[in-house]
Amino acid sequence: MANILGGLFTSHVPGIGGAIARGVQKDPYWSPFFDGFDPVHDWLKDAKPDVAIVFYNDHGLNFFLDKMPTFAIGAADVYRNADEGWGLPVQREIKGDTALSWHIIESLVADEFDVTTCQSMLVDHAVVVPFQLCWPGGVEWPVRLVPIAINTVQHPLPSPKRCLALGRAVGKALRSWGGNERIMVMGTGGLSHQLDGERAGFINQKYDRFCLENLPGNVDALTTISSIDIIEEAGSQGIEILNWIAARGALGETVSTLASNYHIPISNTAAATMLLAAEEAKVKEPA
Ligand code: DHB
Ligand code: FE
Repeated sequence: MANILGGLFTSHVPGIGGAIARGVQKDPYWSPFFDGFDPVHDWLKDAKPDVAIVFYNDHGLNFFLDKMPTFAIGAADVYRNADEGWGLPVQREIKGDTALSWHIIESLVADEFDVTTCQSMLVDHAVVVPFQLCWPGGVEWPVRLVPIAINTVQHPLPSPKRCLALGRAVGKALRSWGGNERIMVMGTGGLSHQLDGERAGFINQKYDRFCLENLPGNVDALTTISSIDIIEEAGSQGIEILNWIAARGALGETVSTLASNYHIPISNTAAATMLLAAEEAKVKEPA
């Protein structure tokens, strides 16, 4: 059985990648966000994950509006990043874990989640910005990736209940895996933000606080309203909270909160970071 260590939840604003490229993490605009990663770096030093299961949304780099799977899972040996037009340096490729990907896919399909399988897949800022935040400055990423893309872009969107069920089913798949990999889960995006239209710049602190308070111990509370109602509360891109909800589902029933940070705004977004340890985790090696 794989060792599920815990989950990292973070915004994935492309401008964070720009700040890293310019080395301005300590500037007053950026430090309240980047400092929120100090406890994450401490945790990663002990946790030493082998694999990251990343729930995220693709923003048009891999899937465009003409072909939009509701749930898509990578099953590739390697995932490349590419130029999305933000002017960011393209990040080095990330190794995949095809055997684990196929195990998760088989388990999900057996559980009646009809996912799209991707044997080649580009990954955008929603994967590489969180990777840069977790492992700054290295020459090789220390984890293999299983990317799970949720459609938060093209209507109709999946419901929060369905995303939570997907995450729980991924957790079940991990618990039935024969290997002893050390696994971390990520949910990227959010919190409230809207990039376009009349409400561009919209942020809803009250809704964000509700999500941060309930994600650890009562994630079902985040699924009591529809995805359309979440857009009303959180903005048209705030619906990326679906990625957080799914990732939380994979961690199992009980978690403990190791770190939480909320800072507004970064670009147009209410930026947040949360680190949860899975109850079942064996983070430290036995003495
Ligand atoms: C921004 C936020 C996002 O989640 C994204 O995918 C792109 C841009 C922003 O606030 O600039
Ligand atoms: Fe986004």
